[in-house]
Amino acid sequence: MTAADVIQAWDRAGPDAIHPLRRVSEDAYWESGQVQAEMLATVIPDGAKVMDFGCGDGRVAIPMAALGYEVTAVDSSQRMLDRLAERAPDVTAVHAAADGIAGHLGRRRMDAVYCLAVLIHHSWADCLHTVEKLRAATKLGGILVLDWPVSDQPAEADSWIGVTTWSREQQADACARIGLEPVDSGLPWSVYRAVKAGS
Ligand SMILES: C[S@@+](CC[C@H](N)C(=O)[O-])C[C@H]1O[C@@H](n2cnc3c(N)ncnc32)[C@H](O)[C@@H]1O
Repeated sequence: MTAADVIQAWDRAGPDAIHPLRRVSEDAYWESGQVQAEMLATVIPDGAKVMDFGCGDGRVAIPMAALGYEVTAVDSSQRMLDRLAERAPDVTAVHAAADGIAGHLGRRRMDAVYCLAVLIHHSWADCLHTVEKLRAATKLGGILVLDWPVSDQPAEADSWIGVTTWSREQQADACARIGLEPVDSGLPWSVYRAVKAGS
């Protein structure tokens, strides 16, 4: 699947597709975002300027804003952003995919970027392209939290809702090239500090 195919499929997806808990109840869905925001807060400094890339309807972005972070919520689906705005009109929402981030930020850089349940749906090449853009959006020394799963049998997703996995070597090579230094966090996602590429 191309990035455009995945983006188009998500734009057409119903709210139920975002997270399995939504099929349990709305309360369970929003509670999961609250819990994940509190987990992110263990590695992202208080009051930081953060980007939620692929924010969906704000499951995590809205509780992050409530915790006092300055949140920029980015998604390639205007429908998702409309749902976010209905619930939280004060959260800054940006309609963009990875290539649109730089144009929005100009010379500004984020203290932290997190990206949950987004990279997993893209091919290796498209995921890498996105990670490069997310790194470029982060200031040196800033934090990136990426839902970027490793497997002993890495494979690319075969549908827009599938999951792409990576070998440890693939990820380590990419991190060195892009400028991501792993941080030991205990979180269920990969956490990195933004460093100079090649260091
Ligand atoms: C599974 S949902 C996850 C939403 C949110 N991160 C969460 O954890 O609740 C995937 C979201 O990523 C967005 N998305 C997928 N590919 C994207 C891309 N290349 N650029 C920006 N947004 C993307 C989709 O529109 C959708 O809103």
